[in-house]
Amino acid sequence: MAKRIYFFDTTLRDGEQTPGVSFNLDEKVEIALRLENLGIDIIEAGFANASPGDAEAIRAVAKAVSGPIVVSLARTNKDDIDAVINTLGDIDNTGIHIFIATSPIHRERKLGMTKEQVLEKAVESVSYAAKYFKHIEFSCEDATRTELEFLSEVAEKVVEAGATVLNFPDTVGYTTPEEYTKLFQYVLENTKGIEKVRLSCHCHDDLGMALSNSIAAIQAGAVQVEGCINGIGERAGNVALEEVAALLETRKDYFNIQTGIKLKEIAKTSKLISRLTGIAIPPNKAVIGGNAFSHSSGIHQDGVIKDKATYEIMTPESIGFNETKLVLGKLSGRNALKKRYEELGYSVNEAQLKEIFKKYKELADRKKDIFDEDIIALLETQPKNA
Ligand code: KIV
Ligand code: ZN
Repeated sequence: MAKRIYFFDTTLRDGEQTPGVSFNLDEKVEIALRLENLGIDIIEAGFANASPGDAEAIRAVAKAVSGPIVVSLARTNKDDIDAVINTLGDIDNTGIHIFIATSPIHRERKLGMTKEQVLEKAVESVSYAAKYFKHIEFSCEDATRTELEFLSEVAEKVVEAGATVLNFPDTVGYTTPEEYTKLFQYVLENTKGIEKVRLSCHCHDDLGMALSNSIAAIQAGAVQVEGCINGIGERAGNVALEEVAALLETRKDYFNIQTGIKLKEIAKTSKLISRLTGIAIPPNKAVIGGNAFSHSSGIHQDGVIKDKATYEIMTPESIGFNETKLVLGKLSGRNALKKRYEELGYSVNEAQLKEIFKKYKELADRKKDIFDEDIIALLETQPKNA
């Protein structure tokens, strides 16, 4: 039986920490409704104590969606937790996400706290929130640079205090798949009560490892994956959730994992985030980039014309895009040119195609991009009896 993985989207919180990105209330609601259509299980809608405007937007999101659980982030202080209680406490299907840094560098250099003080704050805040929320996620910020014994100690105590989800973020994108695997294995083997809660991973992409690390965590026992659409987020961003979803689906044969994500909704969701953030999607971006389903070389184009599966491991339609694109350029072959004429409504016989193809190659040497108008002009200037 396939294992079910839950998708936690933080586009509206970690994603909003992308330099230059800010969503207003209407935009947050529009995005949340899209995320609901996509099949996201948990939406982190913001940080309630950040500003009254953010609290209002989080509340609006929680009222607008009905499927996903909506949570707000909070530090381990009463003001932050009270802000979440005031924002979401009276709305069904909501929760809180509390975090404190646990690594030596964060304890000593950022918080100026001992291990004992960090532990006390963690337990105190979770116990307090447990009076108001059933869904309580607790994150050990910078978990991947934290001593494993301390991580397990914090985990055990916050589970006792009422946490229902435990998240071990790779806050600075520092870990490797092997190390992250060991972290999850250690916590699972050494923490009393761990079987009562959901384990979650949260990976940043500073070294380009976010997807590999997230997958490693899932294979090691995490049942929740956190990330953002289009991989936006603090610094180099969070893991791109569409990549996690497409990978788990395309390689279901290997992972045997089920998700609630409707892959066909990815294109629309990705385009919305790109429009509202003003951040263009790089053409070579996995799954959602403009080139992800384009084929340029003649050999590839010929293969795709005969059978798409030769060079496409998933179809553009399955992600919600229109169709496979054959990009005409100097590497294209005769079959691709013929196919494009057919798509444009022209029928070209073999003799014509032979002549036109020669001219086409000359043109492609001079001109990088060949447009439909160019190939139509080649056909129309061709002697009729060719
Ligand atoms: O990256 C991180 O550690 C976070 C936490 C607040 C969960 O975003
Ligand atoms: Zn983060």
